[in-house]
Amino acid sequence: MGEEEVFVIDPWGVSQVKDYDRLMRQFGIEPLSEELIKKLPSKHRLIKRGIIFGHRDLSLILKAIENGDEYAVMTGIKPSGEFHLGTKLTSEEFIYFISLSSSAKGFFAVADLEAYADNKIHLEESYRIAISNLMDMLALGLDPRRVYVYRQSVEMPVMQLAFIFSRSVTYNTLEAIYGSRPFGLYLSALVQAGDILNPQLPHHGGPKPTLVPVGADQDPHIRLTRDLASRYVEDFGFIPPAATYHRLLRDLTGQEKMSKRNPMGILYLNEPLDSARTKVMNAFTGGRATAEEQRKLGGEPEKCVIFVELLSVHFQDDDNKLEEVYWDCKTGRVLCGECKAKAWEIIGSWLKNHQEKRSKMRDLAEKLLDNKTLG
Ligand code: TRP
Repeated sequence: MGEEEVFVIDPWGVSQVKDYDRLMRQFGIEPLSEELIKKLPSKHRLIKRGIIFGHRDLSLILKAIENGDEYAVMTGIKPSGEFHLGTKLTSEEFIYFISLSSSAKGFFAVADLEAYADNKIHLEESYRIAISNLMDMLALGLDPRRVYVYRQSVEMPVMQLAFIFSRSVTYNTLEAIYGSRPFGLYLSALVQAGDILNPQLPHHGGPKPTLVPVGADQDPHIRLTRDLASRYVEDFGFIPPAATYHRLLRDLTGQEKMSKRNPMGILYLNEPLDSARTKVMNAFTGGRATAEEQRKLGGEPEKCVIFVELLSVHFQDDDNKLEEVYWDCKTGRVLCGECKAKAWEIIGSWLKNHQEKRSKMRDLAEKLLDNKTLG
């Protein structure tokens, strides 16, 4: 299949690519070029399919991989609920970037302070949720020997960094980046800067290239942290963090903004299979008004949550099979009901398998979170 047809498979279509272009130009995010992609030792489907679309300073990480030098991969997740497709995405990226080199080390922040500031979730509740979240991460393939896991609320060096950074950040700066927000959120932003630079502190081996894979919405934090890193070079020798950016995905009902108020929109990784099935079978598609029309005109896979979010982003690794689904839809050969049933077979068996794996991870998750040495 030719280059142009590959482009047609781009699930977000030209207009939204334009929006991302604007985002990149405005904030100085670089596109993830073919040249850089070529240098990656293995190419994750999220990269091949353009879900990860941009970066800052990824070349620093590629150089470290090439030279076998140490680098950190850093992420954080607010323990505000059970794992769903969005948190799966971030976790998979985290695991993938660690897997690229035996010299990579993972740092995972349980953002319990932020969960309190933003969602008023108490620390004990966060702890419980974080265990469950870690069970998912382990089931997704996180190697427990290669990650340092901590909670923000008990990680003194991170809080100290936040305090140190607060000396050089004014209200005006924060307001310019985030708008006028409760002070807890500003504090959370400084704590997150602390998270991101934590891997470069002396007790973690000092300055090193650090990669933070994030959704496009997290860029303000990355910009703030890069700015702070360069202000504290003299004190700490920080290397401004590198980042990769993924596109923001729609929920199952096709809404751009995920919201817990719309439970039909969110697929949880440990949800009972019958309710998961109902959600998948009710997902927003690119179907036409009538079956007859769809047979004649074909469907619109690029608008379809089953095709884009579920199969292309999450559950169909095989490029040929994905393409088959695309053309079956586009030509009107296969209608939505049949396509959804096939998609559910793949998704349902993935979920079943994942749930079996995660159920065995509790002990390990508890040990990891409590920072105990792994026997
Ligand atoms: N703010 C992130 C979120 O809302 C969580 C987070 C905290 C984070 N610390 C981090 C993300 C460090 C990346 C790196 O999900």
